[in-house]
This record gives sequence, structure tokens and C-alpha cells, in this order.
Amino acid sequence: MKKFVFVAGVVVASSVFAQDTMMFGSDDDEAYALAIWDSMLESDLAGDGLVISYPYPGTDPHGFLLETFYTQATINGHTGALVVKRNYGPLDVSEDEVIADPKGHLSAITIMFEREAGYDDATQNWFYAKYLPEGSLDVNPNGVSLAGLVGKDADAGCIACHQNASGDDYIFTTDARLTVN
Ligand code: HEC
Repeated sequence: MKKFVFVAGVVVASSVFAQDTMMFGSDDDEAYALAIWDSMLESDLAGDGLVISYPYPGTDPHGFLLETFYTQATINGHTGALVVKRNYGPLDVSEDEVIADPKGHLSAITIMFEREAGYDDATQNWFYAKYLPEGSLDVNPNGVSLAGLVGKDADAGCIACHQNASGDDYIFTTDARLTVN
């Protein structure tokens, strides 16, 4: 019994430690997110001359109008599914205004990228990032970059919300199988 209490104590302590160490926003997370951004620039998913589709009405916390792209990317030699969501504003912006000037109405780009098996199997190895329009990472109120396992084991943030998506795949818009690994 004593041993059980001791083991439970270690588990609690280590999970508190895990919360303190960063689930997201580490140097590695930032570097990885920037590598994804570069690949998005190369494929015109971001940057000047980006490919656009017909924007559709969105919901909080994503933009007033949205675009979603499903593709794949190869980051540091690893190929995985990449889902890119462009978030447009402000409130009441029209489809025509977004199509005429997408960059001028872009408020953020949020992505999910399928990392290698073992990255975080419990949440299906999705890496999350939120970029400001010009490609820098957005930060939370504590100044931590939104890149990595954002919102894991937390009350708010990407994973806290995306874990409620139907199909148990962390993806809201579709239950189609997107993953390639
Ligand atoms: C409070 C809930 C919530 C939070 C927090 C949230 N999202 Fe989402 N997200 C959604 C919903 C709902 C959709 C579907 C929107 C639509 O209709 O296109 C979505 C869609 C997406 C998509 C397109 C793939 C999909 O699930 O359909 C990406 C990529 C995405 N979110 C990334 C992020 C990132 C990165 C963060 C954190 C920085 C984040 N989301 C935070 C609710 C949330």
C-alpha cells in the first residue's frame, strides 16, 4: 500500500512537471513550425500570390470567413498530412472583399501537420501552429509561441477543443482519412 501511494505520488509529480515543461512553444517547436511555413510558401498556401478558394462562413475562435486546404508536406524528410486553415476578418467582411484582397483580410493561418509516429500517439501525432499573416508565430497571454501540442491536457487551446471533433480524428471539417503514416 505504501508503495502504491509512492508510485501515485511520482505520477502526479511528473504530470505537474510535464505541464511546467513546455508542451508547446519550445525552440524545437518554433523551428519545426517555421519549416512548415517555408513549405507553405513554396506551395503558395501562404505568402504573396497564394492560391485561394471560395471562402465560407466560420465560427469562433477561427475567423469570420475561412478557407481550408488538405494537402501533404515533407518536413525534415518526413511526409505527413497538412491541413491549412486561413482565418479572415474583420466581422462582416464579405467573400468578394476577401477574394479581391486575401492578404489584406487575413487575420491568422492555423495548421495541423501529421508528425511521425511516436510524436504524440495519444493525440494522433498532430502538430499545431498558429501564424500571423506574415508568418511569425502567434503567442499565448504568457508570450509562449503557439506551436506544438497546444492545449494538450489543458482547459483551452487547440487540442482541448479539437479533441471534441467527431470521428475521433481531431479534425472538425471531415472524417475522411487524411493521415498518410
Ligand atoms: C474552441 C474550439 C477551437 C479551438 C480552441 C481551436 N479550433 Fe481549430 N477548429 C475548430 C472548429 C470548430 C473548426 C472547423 C471550422 C470550419 O467550419 O471550418 C476548426 C478547424 C481547424 C482546422 C482545419 C481542420 C479541421 O479541424 O477541420 C485547423 C487546421 C485548425 N482548426 C487549427 C487550429 C489551431 C492550430 C488551433 C490553436 C491555435 C485551433 N485550431 C484552435 C475549433 C477550434
